[in-house]
Amino acid sequence: MKILVVGSGGREHALLWKLSQSPEIRGLYCAPGNGGIGELAQLVDIGAEDIESLAEFAEAKDIDLTIVGPEGPLAKGIVDIFEKRGLRIFGPTKSAARLESSKAFSKNLLKKYHIPTGQFAVFDDAQAARSYVRQVGAPIVIKADGLCGGKGTIVAHTLSEALGAIDLLMEDRIFRQAGERIVVEERLVGEEVSMIVLTDGATAIPLLTSQDHKRLLDGDKGPNTGGMGAYAPAPVVTGTLAKGLMEQVIHPTLNGLVSEGILFKGVLYAGIMLTADGPKVLEFNVRFGDPEIQAILPLLKTDLVPLLDDTVEGRLSQHRCEWQAGSCVCVVLASGGYPGEFQIGKEIRGLERLQGREGVLVFHAGTKRDGERFVNWGGRALNVVAVDDEIEGAVKRAYDAIGQLAFDGMTYRKDIAWRALKKPVSH
Ligand code: AMP
Ligand code: GLY
Repeated sequence: MKILVVGSGGREHALLWKLSQSPEIRGLYCAPGNGGIGELAQLVDIGAEDIESLAEFAEAKDIDLTIVGPEGPLAKGIVDIFEKRGLRIFGPTKSAARLESSKAFSKNLLKKYHIPTGQFAVFDDAQAARSYVRQVGAPIVIKADGLCGGKGTIVAHTLSEALGAIDLLMEDRIFRQAGERIVVEERLVGEEVSMIVLTDGATAIPLLTSQDHKRLLDGDKGPNTGGMGAYAPAPVVTGTLAKGLMEQVIHPTLNGLVSEGILFKGVLYAGIMLTADGPKVLEFNVRFGDPEIQAILPLLKTDLVPLLDDTVEGRLSQHRCEWQAGSCVCVVLASGGYPGEFQIGKEIRGLERLQGREGVLVFHAGTKRDGERFVNWGGRALNVVAVDDEIEGAVKRAYDAIGQLAFDGMTYRKDIAWRALKKPVSH
């Protein structure tokens, strides 16, 4: 099979690493990819959202299956366009992708089908939003309806912060149309987990549960980022809780979509807050979580190619996922200054020392090959991933490996998986 992966981050590197182990692979391509991905797949110089050019490439190269990493092209309808041309592609259609591309759509769906989530109200008008916020008070969460690269949610601790957030989104239009409409939501308190499933619309197969670390600094402090590390499985999610999440969240969501005339195929990712009143949905994503998937795939024993291929074909009921026992940790190495301004083009030293090291993988995100060396080329540059029988061992392996790496300005969290380290591991 010839496979094209769309995207350029650690998620896509992890996917290609796993796909490359399949005996079914005859060719691997990635558009646009990154420095590290170039070692595994042929890089194609087409942007992830240049859908027409991607479709032309897939036709010209006889690609058997295209796998979409990020949400942007899904929200723009890459799946609809490929399918119209008779090209096979893994991911939800544009209308199914609204679960991620419109928070108002997903909240209304949750409400209509009685799926647990926080109280909310949707506003197209700033004045009405302000009155509502004054009435309910802080803390409160203000969210842009549309895609904002993970930056569209403001957890406001005071009324003035909440009013400021409404101004930024609706008056200053910092995210343009994405903030024309907003969702104002009850602030939920608890531990967050990521529940990621593969689904052909009828069958849903859960992957290992995981936890992301969204804040920049140790102790979950500092600004929100795209994610500074992850681990899987999340011991806080017992077998019973995982089953409950499938029954109370995943299946009712898929069935609700079917009632709305929408068949969802691909990855459904529910961000869940485990509150004192039970689990509640914070958000949906319609793609593999990054960095979560980097900590999930190294534990997957099953060949990923037939799994994804049969998701597209609606034959997922024939499959199950086999998992290796143990834990996996992913630590993100970011460029100094991220998520604000940062410098790029700094040589990454020490990568060769980690080649072939037992239980350790390095997935690239913002890197570029520069002759014989790699340089950092984005906010999150590298991901160091480690597997071990126990979470403690995986954490130690990851940080020992990081000790071999350096680039000017390199920064990372030292406490990835702290929640799991406090708990016994259970699959
Ligand atoms: P979202 O933009 O919906 O993906 O949310 C991003 C992050 O904001 C989540 O991962 C949570 O950490 C936080 N968040 C979102 N909604 C809420 C909420 N209702 N209460 C508390 N925190 C939230
Ligand atoms: N790790 C969060 C996300 O992929 O959106």
